Amino acid sequence: MSPTFTIAIDGPAGAGKGTLARRLADHYRLNLLDTGLTYRAVAHALLQLGLPLDNVSAAETAARQVDLNKLDRAILSAHAVGEAASKVAVFPTVRRILVEKQREFAKAPPGAVLDGRDIGTVVCPDADIKLYVTASAEVRARRRLAEIESIGGTANFTEILADILRRDERDMGRADSPLKPAADAHLLDTSEMAIEAAFLAARAIIDDVLAKRNNA
Ligand code: C5P
Repeated sequence: MSPTFTIAIDGPAGAGKGTLARRLADHYRLNLLDTGLTYRAVAHALLQLGLPLDNVSAAETAARQVDLNKLDRAILSAHAVGEAASKVAVFPTVRRILVEKQREFAKAPPGAVLDGRDIGTVVCPDADIKLYVTASAEVRARRRLAEIESIGGTANFTEILADILRRDERDMGRADSPLKPAADAHLLDTSEMAIEAAFLAARAIIDDVLAKRNNA
């Protein structure tokens, strides 16, 4: 049996896959990589240098410099960085550099939970478990609004929804590694499901695979 166990989680922004990935990595004691942060790090480097986001060679250089141990979520989680990340994520050469690093991460024992857009389809096509986590755009926009309000901010629902739809279109419509469920992914729609219920549903799927494997 392979010495590593890989859980691939894909889905659109705001579907709850980050929280789910963290809970599963804790529960199964696996390493965790939010691959969105790698694209965000590239975008952030270009923004810092004042370079346009379509400067492919600068984006490639920034991608080569991404250190998976130094991804600073506090800096990279800014909304504008996420928007910029989806622009640099369309470049195949940038993707190839980051995907290579992500695969290396997945290979380290005891294995990992990786979340992103192309984990089950491109980064880890042989993952032991593939989950595709979705929620309607309206639900995702409502969650994002609540999140902003919970930290004392204000935002407009219509603008957030438009933002989410724009990002979905960019992520699902790009030519290289578009966001889509792998053929063998388990679908989890969290529109009407709290994160705890999604966690339990994911555990049931994973425990089933582990039990079959142990009995084989
Ligand atoms: O998940 P997060 O919102 O941090 O991702 C930011 C952007 O990075 C996404 O909108 C997407 O364009 C890109 N991304 C990607 N492939 C991944 C992870 C993120 O293209 N595996």
